[in-house]
Amino acid sequence: MCCEYNIFDKALSRSPAERERVSQPSYEASTDFLSFGEAYFDGPPGIGYGGYSYDGRYSTVVRKACKRYSLVKSSKILELGCAKGYVLFEFFKKKYCNIEGIDVSEYAINSSPKPIRKYLKQKSLSDLILPEETYDFIFSKEVLPHLDISTLERLIPLIIRSVKVKRNILLVVQVAESSFEKEKILSWDPTHKTVRSSIWWRDFVSSFGFTGDLVCKRLFN
Ligand SMILES: C[S@@+](CC[C@H](N)C(=O)[O-])C[C@H]1O[C@@H](n2cnc3c(N)ncnc32)[C@H](O)[C@@H]1O
Repeated sequence: MCCEYNIFDKALSRSPAERERVSQPSYEASTDFLSFGEAYFDGPPGIGYGGYSYDGRYSTVVRKACKRYSLVKSSKILELGCAKGYVLFEFFKKKYCNIEGIDVSEYAINSSPKPIRKYLKQKSLSDLILPEETYDFIFSKEVLPHLDISTLERLIPLIIRSVKVKRNILLVVQVAESSFEKEKILSWDPTHKTVRSSIWWRDFVSSFGFTGDLVCKRLFN
């Protein structure tokens, strides 16, 4: 059975109302946006991130993660879909240096803080290979809904196999509880491929024997 503990719960994040307020429904996504280039992260406000720079918003996340997942400075930590690596940077600043991040976006990785850039790899999760029972903590925040179902069917068991303690996984996923919410998400960010309800996600990961933390986040409601 999976749990819902969320180390990100107090980290600065847009509320559904704020997202609704700034979103630009008539916007047509460029190729650069759709391939997670500069337009995706640092385009004009109201479109995707609308600018994403380091502001320390994840500084409290590390403390919570260490407590929840019993991490020590030498723990091996992997983030799937790390973008600019700002969460891993917080681990690094607290002397957790056994870190790895993977993201498909070359732009995001090239925009990451220099001290951690060598720990980040530009790679797609769709053909990822991970070693067995290697990581002390694997997390992925708001990334899995950007993958198609067949990739997810391959990836979830891979993650479970690759972590040493099976409950030391945190997946944060964007969910839609109605077709209205799903349309809103897709017009806000058409790079989403698997927009489903929280019940769907819970059943999906459970079908692979997932016992980590699954946090379902509604972007619009
Ligand atoms: C909504 S962003 C979340 C980024 C970061 N985890 C955060 O919470 O700020 C989605 C991320 O997934 C990455 N991504 C999308 N498809 C991917 C794939 N097939 N392989 C690896 N990363 C992917 C994007 O480049 C982007 O950084």
